[in-house]
Amino acid sequence: MIRQRQIETSAADFIPQDRSIDGLRLAARTCRDCELHREATQTVFGEGPSDARAVFVGDQPGGEDDREGRPFAGPAGKLLDAVLQEVGIDRRQIYLTNVVKHFKSGRREREHRAAKATSREIHAWIPWLEAELEAIRPEVVICLGAMAAQSLLGPTFRVSRQHGQIRPTAWAPWTIATFHPAAILHCPDAIRADIQQAFVADMKLVAERMRTIEFTHHDPGDESSRGA
Ligand code: URA
Repeated sequence: MIRQRQIETSAADFIPQDRSIDGLRLAARTCRDCELHREATQTVFGEGPSDARAVFVGDQPGGEDDREGRPFAGPAGKLLDAVLQEVGIDRRQIYLTNVVKHFKSGRREREHRAAKATSREIHAWIPWLEAELEAIRPEVVICLGAMAAQSLLGPTFRVSRQHGQIRPTAWAPWTIATFHPAAILHCPDAIRADIQQAFVADMKLVAERMRTIEFTHHDPGDESSRGA
């Protein structure tokens, strides 16, 4: 066991001294801490302003995200975009990232869907997510689905029972978890409407919170204030 620990690498070996978002993005391109880099086209790092007030965290890139090098570029992203628009959140103003930043292919999965990362792979990437959150210091964090929720809120977190609950965390004073948009796309027909309704209701809470933050922080005399 001790011998194995000595030869194992850790994510800390790959996280750069420059912990700005640009520094992290650059270093993540060459991260080899888990086996996933072998099958991925590229690292799909977070996207959005590095001073965003809200960070949305998904689980891992799908096939289209892998090819484009952008999070939520595929079908789940299109659904997310539609709901963001419905509740009045501008995607250009949020930072969107994933727990795991490499695509994982699975022969039995449909092309755009990733096979679920193992807990080893998830744990290799969590320090990167933590570093992103420390660099951005958002006011709102939204966990999309179980992988993000359990990575940031603890392994016993259950999205089906605890979605929509707001709590302060080490990552943001206002943290919430909701369903993953892919859950709406792939769930049984009988429960789709209920999940979609719950997802939209949670996202309305997020939109409301973002408007309150915007209102509180906006100084009409200061055009350089964020979001002005
Ligand atoms: N695409 C992403 O970037 N993240 C997800 O969680 C799902 C699809």
